[in-house]
Amino acid sequence: ESGKLWGGRFVGSVDPIMEKFNASIAYDQRMWEADIQGSKAYSKGLEKAGLLTKAELGEILCGLDKVAEEWANGTFVQNPSDEDIHTANERRLKELIGETAGKLHTGRSRNDQVVTDLRLWMRGSCSALSAHLRTLLTTMVERAEAEKDVLFPGYTHLQRAQPIRWSHWILSHAVALSRDLERLLEVRKRIDVLPLGSGAIAGNPLGVDRELLRKELNFSAITLNSMDATSERDFVAEFLFWGSLCMTHLSKMAEDLIIYGTKEFSFVQLSDAYSTGSSLMPQKKNPDSLELIRSKVGRVFGRCAGLLMTLKGLPSTYNKDLQEDKEAVFEVFDTMNSVLQVATGIISTMKINKACMEEALSPDMLATDLAYYLVRKGMPFRRAHEASGKAVFMAETKKLALSQLSLTELQTISPLFTSDVSQVWNYANSVEQYQALGGTAQSSVDWQIQQLRGMLRTL
Ligand code: ARG
Repeated sequence: ESGKLWGGRFVGSVDPIMEKFNASIAYDQRMWEADIQGSKAYSKGLEKAGLLTKAELGEILCGLDKVAEEWANGTFVQNPSDEDIHTANERRLKELIGETAGKLHTGRSRNDQVVTDLRLWMRGSCSALSAHLRTLLTTMVERAEAEKDVLFPGYTHLQRAQPIRWSHWILSHAVALSRDLERLLEVRKRIDVLPLGSGAIAGNPLGVDRELLRKELNFSAITLNSMDATSERDFVAEFLFWGSLCMTHLSKMAEDLIIYGTKEFSFVQLSDAYSTGSSLMPQKKNPDSLELIRSKVGRVFGRCAGLLMTLKGLPSTYNKDLQEDKEAVFEVFDTMNSVLQVATGIISTMKINKACMEEALSPDMLATDLAYYLVRKGMPFRRAHEASGKAVFMAETKKLALSQLSLTELQTISPLFTSDVSQVWNYANSVEQYQALGGTAQSSVDWQIQQLRGMLRTL
């Protein structure tokens, strides 16, 4: 006997290098709990179908609990022939309860077993990740609420564009992340479908009640087709893509904060808790946390692209290629799990430098407002844009700030300029113009906060 679950038709032994190559136990043992849960549910299904007696079911359930206990307290001893978590658990069950263990796999295949385990595991991890994302969002919304009065330069192309509220910047990232939360919960819905009872490819011939299995494992639905159920990994691809998109958003925020944290900007100061020093330059305080967030996008993208590459061109139903899905899921989960918590830490502890932010505002950023001033006096926007552009040019030529041009100088550009033009040179007034929903005025920032809070309550 080869000691393998599938040893019956084999005579020779497997090359040790192949044995190692084939094995997934090194990483899929992370699913031990899901595997036990799945087996417990399945044995109940077998009992109901008349394939196990009540006594046998009792033995199996009790044995599975013992196996679980060994995993939980770290005493499970792995055997070199344990190929994956499924074979390891069944091998151990047999050692503990004897021949009855051999009935557990009746009508089941590792093909429906592994994908059941993975869906169970991912369901739990989506819940953990959505909790972290929620905490991050709450932190950001609180910060936006608390710092509504701070104004600073908004940039496009990294060039000074228009004055905005600092909270408007925070919320711009929060709003994107709120869609990631929504998306994650959508992905979770499609993960939450039970494949068990699909067998290897054709289904279950022994009358196992899949509705019972669904209830036992608390899935929302059961898969429709056994061939699809055992081999489709679209739910994995969706999860990896979710991670990729969420990381893209986080890397954008990280990049902004890295720039804002430079001496040249000095808008924000990262807490020591999320910074590191230089081994050579004593003065350095580096934003390593933000850089690592930015960099880990690559890892997550890589896993997403890698899995899609693995899936592309596979024929129908189970192929061993699918074993590669789990490392991708685990790595992306671990990355997202730490990134989301670190991001929350960074946002909740960083300090802002209100004075530097406000000093960085300059009158040229009000050139658009100067055009709007003329628009409000009846000039068509295109002409107003041109007139304001001329004023910018005049100020530049005279080496003056835009706000330093005299009324007489402005009137050489347009007679519509009158003494009330002085009111344009006020950053607080400027941001308050943007009251249409979604803008940077106080009322609209309040509205955004309200909307996000509402969403966090209902999601
Ligand atoms: N370890 C395998 C995996 O992760 C389990 C399924 C193996 N099934 C099979 N027929 N070889 O996909």
